[in-house]
Amino acid sequence: MLFETGDEVTPGLLAGETLADVAARARRCRACPLYADNTQTVFGHGPPDARLMLIGEAPGEQEDRQGIPFVGPAGQLLDQALAEAGLARERLYVTNIVKHRPWVLQGTRRKNRPPRVSEIRACRPWLDAELALLRPQIVLCLGAPAAREILGKEFKLTQQRGQWFQTPQVPHVLATLHPAYVLIQPPESLEAARATLFADIAEVARRYRALAL
Ligand code: URA
Repeated sequence: MLFETGDEVTPGLLAGETLADVAARARRCRACPLYADNTQTVFGHGPPDARLMLIGEAPGEQEDRQGIPFVGPAGQLLDQALAEAGLARERLYVTNIVKHRPWVLQGTRRKNRPPRVSEIRACRPWLDAELALLRPQIVLCLGAPAAREILGKEFKLTQQRGQWFQTPQVPHVLATLHPAYVLIQPPESLEAARATLFADIAEVARRYRALAL
């Protein structure tokens, strides 16, 4: 049995909690097996009054080590795109749909793997708590798994990235390529993928400024 019984945490927002309270409880989450063989929970990071929320997939090696989303190679590319678009990362809230690193052993090394549906489901109450407390005006989904969580299972990143959507909870939602996907493109498609990511983030920055957020 991978689940501990004592000291159990109920995922999601409890009445009266602040973002810091929720983050502190998420550190003890055992709702899926991912907690067992990782360094720490990587909860969302950024000011609680951020108006723009970025949602990725799951922490990687560096994120697991440092406890902050998007601090590894994908995060560095994201930081470049944000800087080029004139968005100050310290004013944004950055999170993931899954808050522990999913990995698989390859030889002696741990390799990132996509989160399972069961892991995404187990973690969803934490994302809901972040959305409920921050009530962001704009959400930028990085990659298809995040986009499908916010915009529905039918969302097709290849056809619908770069377009604005509205949900009952968030007035402005846009999805783009995941920076890690850009980084694994072969040389002949790398530049186009990078340009797409940067253009979509520039579009988010335009909306952010137009709304005077
Ligand atoms: N990829 C993600 O989706 N999230 C991170 O935090 C890092 C890489």
